[in-house]
Amino acid sequence: MTENSSDVRILAIESSCDETAAAVVKNGREVLSNIIYSQIATHTMYGGVVPEIASRKHIEKIKQVVESALKEADMTLEQVDAVGVTYGPGLVGPLLIGVSAAKALAWAADKPLVGVNHIEGHVAANFIASPELEPPFVCLIVSGGHTHLVVVEDYGVFRILGRSRDDAAGEAFDKVARSVGLGYPGGPKIDAKAKEGNPDAIQFPQAKVRESAYDFSFSGLKSAVLNYQNHAKMTGEEINVADLVASFQKAVVDVLVEHTVAAAHEYGFRQVAMAGGVASNSALRNAMKTRCEREGIRLFYPPPVLCTDNAAMIGSAAYYEYIAGNRSGWDLNAVPGLKLGER
Ligand code: KG4
Ligand code: ZN
Repeated sequence: MTENSSDVRILAIESSCDETAAAVVKNGREVLSNIIYSQIATHTMYGGVVPEIASRKHIEKIKQVVESALKEADMTLEQVDAVGVTYGPGLVGPLLIGVSAAKALAWAADKPLVGVNHIEGHVAANFIASPELEPPFVCLIVSGGHTHLVVVEDYGVFRILGRSRDDAAGEAFDKVARSVGLGYPGGPKIDAKAKEGNPDAIQFPQAKVRESAYDFSFSGLKSAVLNYQNHAKMTGEEINVADLVASFQKAVVDVLVEHTVAAAHEYGFRQVAMAGGVASNSALRNAMKTRCEREGIRLFYPPPVLCTDNAAMIGSAAYYEYIAGNRSGWDLNAVPGLKLGER
């Protein structure tokens, strides 16, 4: 590893939901370590994330995860240039654990503290995966908590074109998976099960909003899936779960692809990126790839481990905040409802 005095190495912490994560990232693009302790096994027992349990697990694991991240990067705390941390959006208890830990570490080692917006972190995962990617580009952000279609005008500068009016895309996957007994988290379970099914078996309504070109709405689709199941139950018909989830997934994917490509054309961008947990969905990746290739658009998406929650993406976003001169005070607090682009 060649060292340069202008290199910026950031220790980043992520704890907004059910992953306790720490990473060391160099110059926003190079991952020196990326440690993720997933609490999924614990929350699976309850069918979803239990905030109090998540907080407790974060407390138990955060020190160990940070130590592992430094060790794997072969660095001491004194050698990092700054400490980055997710301060919102997310669950307040879990966020507070990460923010408190980051403050303590930054204070003790006399390092600058850089608060990061979790959604902006998801977008930044693309900068790690694709070193050649620079703004501007269109980005589809699809996670468990958020669904946004944006133009990334510059690092940390976003223009929101559309968003979900109700459930987030990942939330819809999780709810539908629960309704058919596939368990939590639903996205990966549906992704796998849908491979055995026929996506054209059932015609579900698309997740569109009639009066808006770029907004999404998943609640009508979710209700249609539930109604289909209730109807089958009443009439004694057997449901083919693989066909059902494949058809649901297609209804989601079609609208995500359609809106994203339409936005790229309307605003004249030849680069499109995807971010967030749902961006690891294989049907979405395939459909977006096929469509973008056909339309001469360059598509970027991170590997699955950087799509779902991780601290490397926070380290990348923190780097761009850091070089822009943005620092957080010791009064940095968790902001559960932090909006995209808000500082
Ligand atoms: O980005 P993320 O890890 O956390 C949030 O910030 O919300 O996203 C988690 C969401 C969950 O709803 C999960 O079901 C969904 O991403 N997800 C997927 C897949 N992998 C994760 N959805 C569809 N297909 C997948 N392969
Ligand atoms: Zn996330």
